Amino acid sequence: MINKKRHNKQGFFISLEGFEGSGKTTLSKKLYHIMLRNGFNSVLTKEPGGTLAADKIREILLERESEGLGYKAELLLFAASRSENVRVNIQPALECGSIVISDRYLDSTTAYQGYGRGIDMEIIKYLNYFAVGNIIPDITFFLDVDTEIGLYRSTVYSKGKEMRFEDEFIQQKQINGKLFLDRVREAYHQIASQNPDRIQVIDSNRDIDLVLNDIIKILNQRLSRKYCKEIFLES
Ligand SMILES: Nc1ncnc2c1ncn2[C@@H]1O[C@H](COP(=O)(O)OP(=O)(O)OP(=O)(O)O)[C@@H](O)[C@H]1O
Ligand SMILES: [Mg+2]
Repeated sequence: MINKKRHNKQGFFISLEGFEGSGKTTLSKKLYHIMLRNGFNSVLTKEPGGTLAADKIREILLERESEGLGYKAELLLFAASRSENVRVNIQPALECGSIVISDRYLDSTTAYQGYGRGIDMEIIKYLNYFAVGNIIPDITFFLDVDTEIGLYRSTVYSKGKEMRFEDEFIQQKQINGKLFLDRVREAYHQIASQNPDRIQVIDSNRDIDLVLNDIIKILNQRLSRKYCKEIFLES
């Protein structure tokens, strides 16, 4: 039985989600530095990875050499990495009252492995719960970008060996008659509509400063109540 009760903790957990090139990494880094400048204890984490073992899993998952990895193994590796990151970094930080910012989290598995790969959603739900228990974000920003813009940004600006997923998008693989990348974007919209209290949809086709402003505005509504202080972009 999945217990949906949130963790009883003092900190605040933010995750950023979205398609490739939607700005998750750029914005989570900016947000982290803004939080620090404003005097909030903050932790920045990125998935997959975050511990010695999880970083090794990241390499397996993202490098081109892993092309052909089975979907079940892929799902289990993401879950293993996340579970370690929660145990070692996220849960202790939240218990100490920190703000945790995670570049991708649970919803990525639901979107990519569940809707994208077509793995049974009950298995995804149970495995997500098994990996993280009740460590669910207080707020999730779904950075919604048009697939062409996201792909353009991620292929033009990002180069390197962590390209397995990008390769797959560029090859425009189809699953059950639908492009993988289209399934993932649709999936994020569905996940957002199923979790309206947690997930905020942000139009990330716009200039990055406008996107960041929206995020800060929303966070201020939540954090000023909890911490009795506001976040300022310049401080
Ligand atoms: N709103 C924006 N306007 C213009 N460029 C942007 C915007 N957001 C991000 N970028 C640029 O697009 C590129 C990809 O962004 P970023 O790496 O943050 O995306 P991501 O969501 O983390 O992608 P991935 O899922 O591939 O890790 C970066 O070079 C970044 O500077
Ligand atoms: Mg990124």
